[in-house]
Amino acid sequence: MMEVLPKDLVEQCKKRMEQYNCEGFVYGRGPENPEIMIVGEAPGETEIHNGIPFSGRAGKVLNEFFEYLGVSRDDIYFTSTVRSRPFKIVHKEGPDGEIIEKKYNRAPNMKEQLAHAPIVDYEIRHVKPKQIVTLGNIGLQRLLGKNYKISEVHGRLIQAPVRRLKDMNTNEWTLSEEEYSIFPTFHPASIFYNRSLLEKVYEDLDELKKILTSKK
Ligand code: URA
Repeated sequence: MMEVLPKDLVEQCKKRMEQYNCEGFVYGRGPENPEIMIVGEAPGETEIHNGIPFSGRAGKVLNEFFEYLGVSRDDIYFTSTVRSRPFKIVHKEGPDGEIIEKKYNRAPNMKEQLAHAPIVDYEIRHVKPKQIVTLGNIGLQRLLGKNYKISEVHGRLIQAPVRRLKDMNTNEWTLSEEEYSIFPTFHPASIFYNRSLLEKVYEDLDELKKILTSKK
């Protein structure tokens, strides 16, 4: 396992997040120099309760992807763009007409992504993954910027520098000096809303299999 994140970095990032509607904190998990580093979006309710990334509904689908790839979860480092659960409060009417408050997951906005950016920056530098796999638009654009759209670039290997936070005060991005090998595919949760994506994901996984084999 990778050494834990520096405490002061975590504290700083938690502080940067305080003003937003986000709860909990989930650490990244996995070995150094992994075959794959997964960069997701943000944890959901299950993850903030047990502290294990991708242990909820989307994680179960993701496990099936790894099984298909023939890569063990032990060879994968899991992280996400934001480490707390972004939520929105929705008021619903209960069975007796009472108003019930419910928390729903939502995608992290740019301010929240910036608040936790130093964590992913630190992990990419120290984990040194052989292959980064981004899930969905959030993970993809966190590393490569808004010009990349998942519907256009999924299933393609991209060799490029990644975005890094230049300065915690100005919240400006800069690019890493090193290039990384990045493979974008859809987020497993997107399949819940659009089943037709599943076929595309498996085509992407076939491509990823070839890439991983060629690196051995
Ligand atoms: N989506 C993510 O990006 N991370 C998780 O841990 C769960 C769902």
